[in-house]
Amino acid sequence: MKRPTETDAWRVLAEHHAVIATASLNQLFADDPQRFRRMSLSAGGLVLDYSKNRLDDRTLALLIGLAVEQGVVDARDAMFAGRAINDTEGRAVLHTALRKHAGSRLDVGGVDVMPEVLEVRERMLDFAEGVREGRWTGHAGDTITDIVNIGIGGSDLGPYMACEALAGQGRPRQRLHFVSNVDGAQLAGVLDRLDARRTLFVVASKTFTTVETMTNATSARAWLLANGACERDVAKHFVAVSTDAGRVRDFGIDVANMFGFWDWVGGRYSMWSAVGLPIALAIGAEGFRALLAGAECMDRHFVEAPLAANMPVILALIGLWYRDFFGAASLCVVPYAQALARLPAYLQQLEMESNGKSVMRDGRAVGVGTCPVIWGEPGTNAQHSFFQLLHQGPDLIPVDFIMPLEVAHELPGHQRLLLANCIAQSKALMVGKGEAEVRAELSAAGLAGEQLERLLPHKLFTGNRPSNTVVMPDLSPTSLGALIALYEHKVFVQGVLWGVNSFDQWGVELGKQLASRIAGELDRDSDGAHDASTLGLIELARQGLARSASRRKP
Ligand code: F6P
Repeated sequence: MKRPTETDAWRVLAEHHAVIATASLNQLFADDPQRFRRMSLSAGGLVLDYSKNRLDDRTLALLIGLAVEQGVVDARDAMFAGRAINDTEGRAVLHTALRKHAGSRLDVGGVDVMPEVLEVRERMLDFAEGVREGRWTGHAGDTITDIVNIGIGGSDLGPYMACEALAGQGRPRQRLHFVSNVDGAQLAGVLDRLDARRTLFVVASKTFTTVETMTNATSARAWLLANGACERDVAKHFVAVSTDAGRVRDFGIDVANMFGFWDWVGGRYSMWSAVGLPIALAIGAEGFRALLAGAECMDRHFVEAPLAANMPVILALIGLWYRDFFGAASLCVVPYAQALARLPAYLQQLEMESNGKSVMRDGRAVGVGTCPVIWGEPGTNAQHSFFQLLHQGPDLIPVDFIMPLEVAHELPGHQRLLLANCIAQSKALMVGKGEAEVRAELSAAGLAGEQLERLLPHKLFTGNRPSNTVVMPDLSPTSLGALIALYEHKVFVQGVLWGVNSFDQWGVELGKQLASRIAGELDRDSDGAHDASTLGLIELARQGLARSASRRKP
């Protein structure tokens, strides 16, 4: 396997970058009136406008050459065929199987995995409909009014993001709550508002060992028992989503109420599995199937489209172009839809847990920058907070604008303004405002001489700041499915380009080990071997815990 920098394409790209780095986007558009038409793509109902990027046809050809040299096509085919491409964990990577339609086949190690996938899908959707229609009741026969998903990371972010994005579409009869943090304030704040007889907990954890989830689930169970239920009733109020039936049983959840998935589904790729149960509860079986169909459509595009017309491939290559050739350390994602408020958080895990790595599959250093920091907030809110830095800060920060066109609400005028702002921001970043224009504006406002000169530099916009715009026809389950699959495949392609395994997450282990050790030490007075800072903080934490305990005493 080659380091990215060891490819022929990289050397030529570096030379080419020296030429194109100073090119002006305004000029590129002036030179080519067809640039938008030539540099936009449609797939899965989405349109990607990548014309506002600092690249030309040669850049794209060279980047495609890099994708070819790094074996993107073979890697993609290996993933879809169920080969064990997650080599540090010895697993296949098959979240794409989860969105395959009924009637498909997928052999892994000589066994068709689809019957099992479809069996769990149908059982899960059936269960969701039962709760929605009031057929599933609490232990005293009351209909369920509140559902609490207890999970963290991939067992929280996907369903939470999708439920917010699709809120209101399936007329849910229940309120949905998401509890992820081990900070008891979150669970306590939710439980305070609930009636135990009418509450259903979904405990979602691939491993069923994650300490935050297990702590929250244990406290939720104790709350249920303290509020009129007995052990026998737990089965009516707790269901589990996991790969580990043994641990689910040990926790006290009836495995008849467990929805399984498989080790070939990574946590951050799991919203298509039973981890998506809250989504099905929110929008119903039909909506959930539409979400899968949208993703499946993007899968087909990723498999079938030539590299140069392949949306995830283009998005991945542009990301690498800025990360490694322009030194862009972050990517800002701005959805112009309040319903997509959780999208940046979702993408943070998807991208940074997948590709936030420095070592290639063969153990050598990658040698160049990998995943940028992903961040963002919905527009237009973001315009009134951090857009100042995007427009006039010293760093190059590429932006992905997400622009859904049609909306469900009927408030006049809002969507027009929202869309106008989204389009205006990508244009403003690109065109900027030069000295002549600012001078003219200031003069027209009556400024002259020293006063004008003093203000002038503050009013300049360098422009030439790149962005992509992903246009969604609407905020339907189908469009959302396509959007998320687009980013999943983008992340996959970037992992291949950098040579990293996008499907493990060893980087989260050290902190977990130390937290468990320090949690034990907080209970005791004896100190472990730590540096002075850690010892000092442990001592302060002990004092805080002691004060909280004494306040709780009657
Ligand atoms: O600690 C990171 C992580 O393993 C994520 O990859 C995962 O999504 C999350 O924890 C939750 O894991 P689980 O679903 O096993 O509780």
